[in-house]
Amino acid sequence: MQTVSNVLNLVKEAIKPALQKAQVVVDATAGNGHDTLFLAEHAADEAKIYAFDIQDAALSNTRALTAEYAERINYVLASHDKIAELVPRPIDVAMFNLGYLPGEEHCVTTKTESTMTAVRQVLDKLTCNGVCVIVAYPGHEAGAQEAASLEEFFAVLPRKNYTVGCYRLLNHARTAPYAYVVEKVW
Ligand SMILES: C[S@@+](CC[C@H](N)C(=O)[O-])C[C@H]1O[C@@H](n2cnc3c(N)ncnc32)[C@H](O)[C@@H]1O
Repeated sequence: MQTVSNVLNLVKEAIKPALQKAQVVVDATAGNGHDTLFLAEHAADEAKIYAFDIQDAALSNTRALTAEYAERINYVLASHDKIAELVPRPIDVAMFNLGYLPGEEHCVTTKTESTMTAVRQVLDKLTCNGVCVIVAYPGHEAGAQEAASLEEFFAVLPRKNYTVGCYRLLNHARTAPYAYVVEKVW
C-alpha cells in the first residue's frame, strides 16, 4: 500500500496528537462519514464533535457510519459558513475535505466563497495549538478556484498567529489533491 501518496491519510496522522487532547472537533464536510468516524475514534471520550454537511443524504450516511459515537456527535445539516454561529465554543481540531461526494452529483461541491468564510471562522475560533486541516482537490474547476483562494489567503496569514504548512506531491500531476495544515500559535 502506498502511504506517501495518500494525502488524506497523512494529514490524519498529523492531527492525531492534537485530536487526543481536543475538547471540540469540527468535521466541516461530513460526506459519507469516514472522516467523522476517524475524528471520533481518535478524540478523547469527552470531546464534542460537530459534523456539518449541506446534503441530507450525506449526513444520514455519516450518522449510520458513526452510530457507535452518536452521543458525542452533533450532526449539523447546514453550510460550514455557519460554524461561527453553530459551534458555540473554541475549536481544537477542524477538518475540511473539500469537493463533492464521490459517486454523487458533482454540482453539490464545496464553493470558494463559503469555504473561505468557513475557514476564516474556524481560524478565528481555533484554540492556541489548535489545528485545522484542509484537503483541496484542484483537479476540477471549482476545486482549482478554491485551492487558488486558499493559497492566496494562507500565504499572507500573520506568522505570529498561525503556522501554515502545505503537503503537495511534487512529482505527481499539479491537479493531484494536496493538503494544508494550519496551527494557531498564539
Ligand atoms: C469530499 S466530500 C467529504 C468526504 C467526507 N468527509 C467523508 O469522509 O466521506 C465533500 C462534502 O462536502 C459537502 N459540502 C459541500 N458544500 C458544503 C458546505 N457549504 N457546507 C458543508 N458541507 C458542504 C458535500 O455535500 C460533500 O458531502
